[in-house]
Amino acid sequence: MTYLVTGAAGFIGFHTARVLLQQGEEVVGLDNINDYYAPKLKHDRLRALEVHKGFHFHQIDLSDRAAFLDAVKPYKIPRIIHLAAQAGVRYSIDHPETYIASNLVGHFNVLEYCRHSDAFEHLVYASSSSVYGGNTKVPFAESDRVDAPVSLYAATKRCDELMSHTYSHLYRLPQTGLRFFTVYGPWGRPDMAMWLFTDAILAGRPIKVFNHGDMQRDFTYIDDVAPTVVAAAAKPPRDDGSAPQRIYNLGGNRSERLMEMIAVLENALGRKAELDLLPMQPGDVPVTAADISSIEKDLGFHPKTRIEVGIPRFVEWYKAYHGLT
Ligand SMILES: NC(=O)c1ccc[n+]([C@@H]2O[C@H](COP(=O)([O-])OP(=O)(O)OC[C@H]3O[C@@H](n4cnc5c(N)ncnc54)[C@H](O)[C@@H]3O)[C@@H](O)[C@H]2O)c1
Repeated sequence: MTYLVTGAAGFIGFHTARVLLQQGEEVVGLDNINDYYAPKLKHDRLRALEVHKGFHFHQIDLSDRAAFLDAVKPYKIPRIIHLAAQAGVRYSIDHPETYIASNLVGHFNVLEYCRHSDAFEHLVYASSSSVYGGNTKVPFAESDRVDAPVSLYAATKRCDELMSHTYSHLYRLPQTGLRFFTVYGPWGRPDMAMWLFTDAILAGRPIKVFNHGDMQRDFTYIDDVAPTVVAAAAKPPRDDGSAPQRIYNLGGNRSERLMEMIAVLENALGRKAELDLLPMQPGDVPVTAADISSIEKDLGFHPKTRIEVGIPRFVEWYKAYHGLT
């Protein structure tokens, strides 16, 4: 079967495409390879995908509808996994227009493509735990109110869910939205804490610890995530009269204290971190914790990888990638 994976040069897109290719599927990958973080890492990920003959890559921007439609025209694509987005909370303060172009216009163009495609069966798209904003009831459940986002990034992700709902309702498009919770692991993102901390600790620089360390995150290991994205794609929601769409939390099922995460990282690196304790950043939230009972029940998702296992695997990859072993 042929899959479209948007954001294929990105962290989760790369791993998802790789799982599909290893299963012998055809993957059409799209990405604009923007420079939000080092494009070299994106090119390196693509090189690892290009060893599979079923991988077909097109560098296009999803907000350019004509270029997008032109790229996908030669293919019949029943399953679409839409992971391309402008990620990051802090960046949205200074670069709001990028979020509108990639996350709103890009998502809209994907929906329009699905609506007009004869081959279409199912769209799986990335949402985020950030839609829960500053909610204080934990763990976060899909049925909780999500109408008070605290960053433009979160607002665009919630808008995507709402646009998707409308398209499911009006055009009966089967869709699954996945609210990812702090995904980490090999080939991860250089703008996220795990990478930033590793980089700083190895260089002997202090690490920036926001909210004076009083933060909790539901860390989710990439090898638990990517196969679940693929499993979700294979199971479109049924059209039982209401809009055939659903939204799931995809989290590690344990909200870890940031200071505990740092301790595990120090252990894996064999070095102590120097802490630069700072106040909370605008747009950030102190706690994320996922109620994963829905995705456990419907898709059999059971996160297996605790940070004590996942962090050393990330460190091992990080060192090998940077030639530090
Ligand atoms: N990693 C996490 O912890 C996390 C948490 C919550 C939600 N998400 C969501 O999951 C998805 C994947 O995240 P990721 O961590 O792999 O991020 P990533 O930044 O590594 O990957 C996103 C990819 O999309 C591409 N892209 C961005 N705008 C584009 C556009 N307009 N057209 C084409 N390509 C474009 C980027 O070049 C990048 O390679 C995103 O939608 C993100 O918002 C991730």
